[in-house]
Amino acid sequence: MTDSNKTATLTVHGETYELPVHSPTAGPDVIDIRKLYGDAGVFTYDPGFTSTASCDSTITYIDGEKGELLHRGYPIDQLAGKSHFLEVCYLLLYGELPQAKDLEQFETTITRHTMLHEQMQYFYRGFRRDAHPMAIMVGVVGAMSAFYHDSTDISDPHQREVASHRLIAKMPTIAAWAFKYHTGQPFVYPRNDLDYASNFLRMCFSVPAEEYEVNPILSRAMDRIFTLHADHEQNASTSTVRLASSSGANPFACIAAGIACLWGPAHGGANQACLEMLEEIGSVDRIPEFIERAKDKNDPFRLMGFGHRVYKNFDPRAKVMKQSADEVLDLLGIEDNPKLQVAKALEKQALEDPYFAEKKLFPNVDFYSGIILEAMGFPTSMFTPIFALSRTVGWVSQWKEMIADPQNKIGRPRQLYLGETTRDYVDIENR
Ligand code: SDX
Repeated sequence: MTDSNKTATLTVHGETYELPVHSPTAGPDVIDIRKLYGDAGVFTYDPGFTSTASCDSTITYIDGEKGELLHRGYPIDQLAGKSHFLEVCYLLLYGELPQAKDLEQFETTITRHTMLHEQMQYFYRGFRRDAHPMAIMVGVVGAMSAFYHDSTDISDPHQREVASHRLIAKMPTIAAWAFKYHTGQPFVYPRNDLDYASNFLRMCFSVPAEEYEVNPILSRAMDRIFTLHADHEQNASTSTVRLASSSGANPFACIAAGIACLWGPAHGGANQACLEMLEEIGSVDRIPEFIERAKDKNDPFRLMGFGHRVYKNFDPRAKVMKQSADEVLDLLGIEDNPKLQVAKALEKQALEDPYFAEKKLFPNVDFYSGIILEAMGFPTSMFTPIFALSRTVGWVSQWKEMIADPQNKIGRPRQLYLGETTRDYVDIENR
């Protein structure tokens, strides 16, 4: 934290307080209120944390006004175009782009952790076949605490490292097996001769009855989707992982908590909800009806895949995703994909509408991702599990950063209490 000699003056209940102001390497200054309650006896109030920094971090930075996303300083469009997911994982975890030998060692380590303990298969059999894959992922990832005891001691840096690698490596297997269980097909084991994205596609789509050749177009697109979802500052699921970790809970339990939070349609569940919305709209001529509904305060309908707490400009990930959608569908020979046509027309009409312009609502990462995933053969129920798989490296990187911070303490927000003041119990016969 780059301390500055700047301070903020606060006057409350007739008293004046000088609060330290810290300046970041990028973004707004922060007012340090850690001693406010002790000194002034007041809390700050910020439901949804719209103006609150919960921590300091060096991993990811978003410039919402400009629509820029940096991972350790590198712009997301450069990483999506020039790097690949496991290299981005290394960057997020260790802070620098790897030398060739370090990258090779890291990729070998991750590859060799992709198998699950054989008994974990029994967890899958306990679910109904129509269970949502996210319900299975929450359960199975939490259950990793019951299998990988030798990497649950968060005070041991080596165990933290092993847990990080296991989570990144095993998430594709866990997600693919959730998909296979849903379809009634047999589980497919990972292979060490395939790259991360190809391994995932093969575990999802190969069947024992025939050979499976990974389509390089699809594995490149899959890898890019993983990269675009890798990390995103202190979003709801990352904040969930940090808060759960602050109690000292083991990493597998904390990541399971992050998966649960991501599932919500306002967050990672928006990719599934967006495709379902495009299906409901059905044709370009029905777009005005849905735009009016999205603007109607009395209608709970919102344009899924639109708007963002931080971006008040285009989500840079959406731009890359849109290009990728065009490429993948074209290369797959899917010319007139009706959902892509509706999505592009919807984006155009919404961005021309004063309501969306005034509120600075733009497409976010979830607006085009589902179109690509559907074209690759995934059902909508697998969209959020793929987001969770991708975001695991972000959750783990933020978790490692927090655990290693000597200032780390249990998170315990306060409240604005509006309930009853003290009153005496009344026996039932006197009520
Ligand atoms: C992700 O935080 C992250 O970084 C998340 C994420 C990540 O990588 O981790 O980027 C991933 O979660 C992307 C967002 C996916 N969610 C959706 O696409 C769902 C639809 N979007 C909205 O629910 C909403 O935009 C949020 C939840 C994303 C953001 O909500 P905010 O910041 O709380 O904004 P808000 O609800 O206060 O909206 C501001 C105004 C409101 O109108 P007023 O009350 O001011 O009149 O904009 C309106 C909202 O009604 N609005 C929308 C809208 N989103 C906001 N109106 C119509 N359609 C929308 N999509």
